[in-house]
Amino acid sequence: MADVLFPVPFDADLLPFVAGFDCGPDPWEQEPSYWIQEHALEAIALGTKVWLYMNQQDLVVGFSSLDVSKSLLRYPTPKSPRVPVLVIPELGLKKEFKGEPKAERTSDPNTDGRYSSQIMRHLLDNAHQWQGNMQAVSLYVDPRNVAAIRLYQRFGFATYGAPYKEPHTGISYDRYAVRLAR
Ligand SMILES: CC(C)(COP(=O)(O)OP(=O)(O)OC[C@H]1O[C@@H](n2cnc3c(N)ncnc32)[C@H](O)[C@@H]1OP(=O)(O)O)[C@@H](O)C(=O)NCCC(=O)NCCS
Repeated sequence: MADVLFPVPFDADLLPFVAGFDCGPDPWEQEPSYWIQEHALEAIALGTKVWLYMNQQDLVVGFSSLDVSKSLLRYPTPKSPRVPVLVIPELGLKKEFKGEPKAERTSDPNTDGRYSSQIMRHLLDNAHQWQGNMQAVSLYVDPRNVAAIRLYQRFGFATYGAPYKEPHTGISYDRYAVRLAR
């Protein structure tokens, strides 16, 4: 049987299920691990949607999030009128579930059974249903994060605009966006 993920809206009762959540050792992996444990509930209080994903063995394999961008974005080009867009604040798989389930991998993102693809399809479905005429989904990613970038590109995301340099850490993030067909 296919290992279909089951999305569960995250809330305070589910905090024990993300204790020790570990996406991996790299800095861009530690950030989402920390976020789901320490910041997700604050974000939910401010309107962010956050989901945990359970597999067929009832194990939490990962999480994702979706929110309205605080500012309008000139999209699809930096000279276009400003439009409302959604953002993916954070997402991540536990490190043991990366690339899994390998046996369910296909080359078509619409049918690929990997957890990463199932999560992205769920996010994009929710983005399409979001109220308010949202035109695109955007996100920031560390350019060293090859696995995430390949996942986003698989689902049509492309670089957009100039990188954003985080003033405290000095890390530059690339912005990616995908149009929401209406
Ligand atoms: C981002 C993430 C969800 C992607 O899921 P995944 O299961 O690891 O990756 P996938 O199986 O979808 O593979 C993505 C692609 O990158 C490749 N890849 C995976 N890890 C890689 C690595 N370390 N180096 C180079 N390529 C890699 C895969 O071969 C695959 O290639 P394909 O496009 O030809 O299929 C997962 O890696 C993760 O949770 N990372 C930590 C948290 C994180 O970075 N979140 C994103 C913040 S912006």
